[in-house]
Amino acid sequence: MNLEGKTAIVTGASRGIGRATAIYLARSGAAVIVNYAGNREAAEEVKQIIQSEGGKAEIVQADVADYSQCESLMQSAIDHFQRIDILINNAGITRDNLLARMKVEDWQQVIDTNLSGVYNCCRTVLRPLLKQKSGGRIINLASVAGLHGNTGQANYAAAKGGVIAFTKTLAKELGSRNISVNAVAPGFIETEMTAQLSEQVKAQVIERIALGRLGKAEDVAEVILFLASSSGYITGQVIPVDGCLVM
Ligand code: NAI
Repeated sequence: MNLEGKTAIVTGASRGIGRATAIYLARSGAAVIVNYAGNREAAEEVKQIIQSEGGKAEIVQADVADYSQCESLMQSAIDHFQRIDILINNAGITRDNLLARMKVEDWQQVIDTNLSGVYNCCRTVLRPLLKQKSGGRIINLASVAGLHGNTGQANYAAAKGGVIAFTKTLAKELGSRNISVNAVAPGFIETEMTAQLSEQVKAQVIERIALGRLGKAEDVAEVILFLASSSGYITGQVIPVDGCLVM
């Protein structure tokens, strides 16, 4: 999997799946833009890890929910590495509650970050990608909740379901430009996002997973790396990475 000479942007890369993905892409030779929303220190640490292994990385602050900040993110990538080849739309949040108790702002924040954030980054990366005329890879983080729904996650499931439909549509629009667009749909992965679940809930989830364990960030990162470095003939697909939680 050789990504020498390519530039990858990973949103929300200061921790969790984004962090593991940034490190994996860099190990395969990509120059990586480590995007972060607020935790500069954690993003710096990811950059240091990559550079200490001989890779290339720069950190760029941007809130993916803000269109103009996404424009600046793409421009920063060009300023640092002169090109963009791979976009990983990883940034995401949860604001879980049953619909009857879900506040308007919890609905809106999740849609703004998890769905509009994907639109914002894809829309703003298009101009540099099309100008380069050398194809590209876009990988969006969906979720099994976006495929099957999940109690307490109407906002999150709606956003991730939207990401899946968006991915399929964009794959059709960009196929002729050799830009592949796919989604990865993780199940339950051990990151700070799932750390808030009680031990009881985790045990119940594990019982439903054929592999008998939660996933690791690296389990997802290696699938993203595969899609990022593949020939591009897989496009418009949603790949679950869930240890057979749902089938
Ligand atoms: P995490 O909470 O550990 O990391 C998410 C990252 O996104 C953080 O670094 C956070 O600062 C960043 N972020 C949040 N809002 C942002 C914004 N507006 N602009 C820029 N960055 C922002 O979560 P995790 O688990 O690593 O999740 C990564 C992706 O995978 C998310 O899209 C999530 O929805 C998805 N996913 C995670 C699952 C899990 O079990 N952990 C399951 C299914 C999907």
